[in-house]
Amino acid sequence: MQDVLNIEAASNLTPWSKKTFQKILENRSISFVIRSKESVVAFCIANKVLDDCHLQNIAVIEKLRGKGIGTFMLNILFKRVKLSNLDTILLEVRESNEIARKFYRDNGFKELSVRKNYYKAEKGRENAIIMRLEVA
Ligand SMILES: CC(C)(COP(=O)(O)OP(=O)(O)OC[C@H]1O[C@@H](n2cnc3c(N)ncnc32)[C@H](O)[C@@H]1OP(=O)(O)O)[C@@H](O)C(=O)NCCC(=O)NCCS
Repeated sequence: MQDVLNIEAASNLTPWSKKTFQKILENRSISFVIRSKESVVAFCIANKVLDDCHLQNIAVIEKLRGKGIGTFMLNILFKRVKLSNLDTILLEVRESNEIARKFYRDNGFKELSVRKNYYKAEKGRENAIIMRLEVA
C-alpha cells in the first residue's frame, strides 16, 4: 500500500488518501498492481458500477513512464472487464492532463462530455473530461 501511496503522491495534484484507496478496494474491484522485484511500480483502480466499469485511477512510477506499462495495464483491464461480462469503461480525466488524454485516446477511448469545475486545481477549479470505451 505504501508504494501505491508514493506513486499517487507523485502523480496527482490532489492525491487520494490511504482511506480512499481502502474504501474503493472494499467495493467489487477489478483493480490490480504491477510489481517489479519487490515493489509496486504501477496500479490500476477500477470498479464495477451497475453494468459499467469505472476506471478511477491509473498511474505508473515517474521514471518508468512512456515505456508501455500504462498500455499494458489497459490491455489487462480490457480482459478483466470482458471476464466480468461488462463492455463499457468510463473515466474522468483533468482537462489539463494532456498526456493522459492522449494516452486514453491512443488506446481507443472517446471523449464524451465535459463536467464543469469537477476537480480542485492549483488555482480554483478545473473541468473533467468524461471518456468512454466499448471493449470489443
Ligand atoms: C497516464 C499514464 C498512466 C500512462 O502510463 P505510461 O506507462 O507512461 O503509458 P505508455 O508508455 O503506455 O504510453 C504513454 C504515452 O505517453 C507519452 N509519453 C512518452 N514519453 C513519456 C514520458 N516520459 N512520460 C510520460 N508520458 C510519455 C506518449 O504519448 C506515450 O505514447 P506513445 O509511446 O504511443 O507515443 C502515466 O503517464 C502516469 O502515471 N501519469 C500520471 C498519473 C495520471 O495522470 N493518471 C491518469 C489519471 S486520469
